[in-house]
Amino acid sequence: MQNFRTIKGTHDLLPEELNLWREVGNSVHTLMQQNGYGEIRTPAFENTELFVRGIGTDTDIVTKEMYSWTDQGGNTLTLKPELTAPVARAYLQHQMGNQNPIHRLYYIDALFRRERPQKGRQRQFHQFGAEAIGSSNPEQDAEIISLAYNIFKKFDIQNMSVRLNSIGNAEIRPAYLESLRSSVKKIKSKLCATCQTRIEKNTLRLFDCKNPHCQELLDEHAPFIFDSISDKDQAHFEMVTRILNEIEIPYFHDKKLVRGLDYYSHTTFEITSSALGAQDALCGGGRYNGLIEQLGGKSTPAVGFAAGIERLILAIDKQNISRNLPDIYLIHFGDETTVTASKIANDLRLNCGKIVVMETLRRSLKAQMREAGRCGAKTTIILGEKELAANKIIVKDMSTGNQNEVPISEINQFFNKTS
Ligand code: HAM
Repeated sequence: MQNFRTIKGTHDLLPEELNLWREVGNSVHTLMQQNGYGEIRTPAFENTELFVRGIGTDTDIVTKEMYSWTDQGGNTLTLKPELTAPVARAYLQHQMGNQNPIHRLYYIDALFRRERPQKGRQRQFHQFGAEAIGSSNPEQDAEIISLAYNIFKKFDIQNMSVRLNSIGNAEIRPAYLESLRSSVKKIKSKLCATCQTRIEKNTLRLFDCKNPHCQELLDEHAPFIFDSISDKDQAHFEMVTRILNEIEIPYFHDKKLVRGLDYYSHTTFEITSSALGAQDALCGGGRYNGLIEQLGGKSTPAVGFAAGIERLILAIDKQNISRNLPDIYLIHFGDETTVTASKIANDLRLNCGKIVVMETLRRSLKAQMREAGRCGAKTTIILGEKELAANKIIVKDMSTGNQNEVPISEINQFFNKTS
């Protein structure tokens, strides 16, 4: 018989780990709502063409990482590898631009990319992110950057670095790429094999190479796109930095930060943490003023970011995280106690809001006491046949060892008083 296992690059998330995931989710919801962002959920798969057109034909995602297939109806579909294109599609489909000049949307979702799995890089992973659609102004860029930064701050992520750049508007790109290609061709033979293949088709991605030798060569020979951006775009960038200074978000202007998706224009940013290892990007984002038009809408400015939840979880110091321990472990034994114990547990959950775990394995008293200690319950309720006959329970405080007898009819009042 075959032993089924998770597919390479995918993981089960077990209850213990999910306590922290829930905490991350709760913080994301709270912070996003505080900033006026509304949640959006899009389907797990979309037409392949949405991603090809949105992300770009020559990008890594589109050329080699998408999970795509043709369904029984002949439609070419893809499991979503990112969420900016689906959110832009939803914005257009629901004519959101006609309802309001600005939309602030956020998401928490699972995504799929067929990358080489390693620490912090999966084939199914999760992101939270935000997209602000409608404003072309730099304060919107700063709001997006601060959203991402503040979440990481809340979880006290160490050694964070905000890398910021501007790649200007799309019009300057063809001339810039031409000059980049011609400079880099002169040093082609000295670059790594991946860089050599990127020169013609995925030229901007040269700057993403992790090989220090390639980076040194680029520093020496390659022009930076930032040095070609217009005065207007430079002023936009400066205003973003002024706001970041004012709200005390430290950043570093990294002229090599170009990002790997074609829809970006103007501001690009990434937040990295050296606590993570090779895959050190906690999040990435930027402006994408051309995407909505590219997908068939009218020209609409937009800016956003997305952060990998697995990477945030890796970077969090687990010692500071509280577990949701049960308030009460309900021990019962003897043939007659089960029905009453079930009722007590149900009442305490519904009427007193307690976290109650009730014994359902019918173990010995000793084994049940051990289980109450193991699961970290603050209080234990004991209901044996003797107590049932006297219409009472024993309530034991697990930290002091103190015991009280409480009439069954007064349990709710007792626990409402003690909480
Ligand atoms: P991205 O840089 O492709 O951008 O992904 C954003 C973040 O998702 C990364 O910084 C990383 O934390 C996480 N991530 C990406 N791939 C993986 C993976 N295979 N395993 C684990 N984590 C991963 C985008 O997705 C853009 N849509 C961001 C954006 C939103 N730009 C504007 N709005």
